[in-house]
Amino acid sequence: RRVVVLISGNGSNLQALIDAQGFDELGGEIVAVVSNRADAYGLVRAKEAGIPAVVLPQGEYDSREAFDGALIKVIERHEPDLVVLAGFMRILTPRFVNRFHGRLLNIHPSLLPAYRGLHTHRRVLEDGVKQHGLSIHFVTEELDGGPVVMQAEVEVDENDTEETLARKVQAREHLLYPIAVRWFLEGRLRLEAAGPTFDGIAL
Ligand code: GRF
Repeated sequence: RRVVVLISGNGSNLQALIDAQGFDELGGEIVAVVSNRADAYGLVRAKEAGIPAVVLPQGEYDSREAFDGALIKVIERHEPDLVVLAGFMRILTPRFVNRFHGRLLNIHPSLLPAYRGLHTHRRVLEDGVKQHGLSIHFVTEELDGGPVVMQAEVEVDENDTEETLARKVQAREHLLYPIAVRWFLEGRLRLEAAGPTFDGIAL
């Protein structure tokens, strides 16, 4: 089973997936890492793990459609069973999302459907909300709106800052994302016409 991971930055989730693969716990192989930024530290992580890494600088494309067209080509060259968005900070076109429908996962730092979009930790703190967390979901055309398959809750303490919250959420991301990927690759987690299922049970 083949996995392509898309990143834009630090790549700590990518690292969690690489580590899981190293322990034979990923259920497949990361065959390529693609970044839309040349300075993404995740590219270093990929290289150190011996995984082919590709940069597609978004500035070199005239439109979102042109960029996504190039991205589709690069990804399909690697014939993935699953495409994993791991801190890929770009809105994808409907064409892209539909091309990989049912085999495209994202991780988002909030308890969806709450706090879609950017700066989730800051917004949670501003609102004084006490329950925060993360969600793993199949990607659909709706931004951060696809069906959720896994969530973990994080309690917000009085003295939490954006940084401490991010750290707490990310620690859980690193635990859960490799599990979601493995379950998908083992055929346990699926997106059916009626919605996502786990071992045949609707989520
Ligand atoms: C994660 O917090 C993820 O939820 C969000 O972007 C961040 C990526 O971090 N989509 P990293 O690049 O995996 O370290």
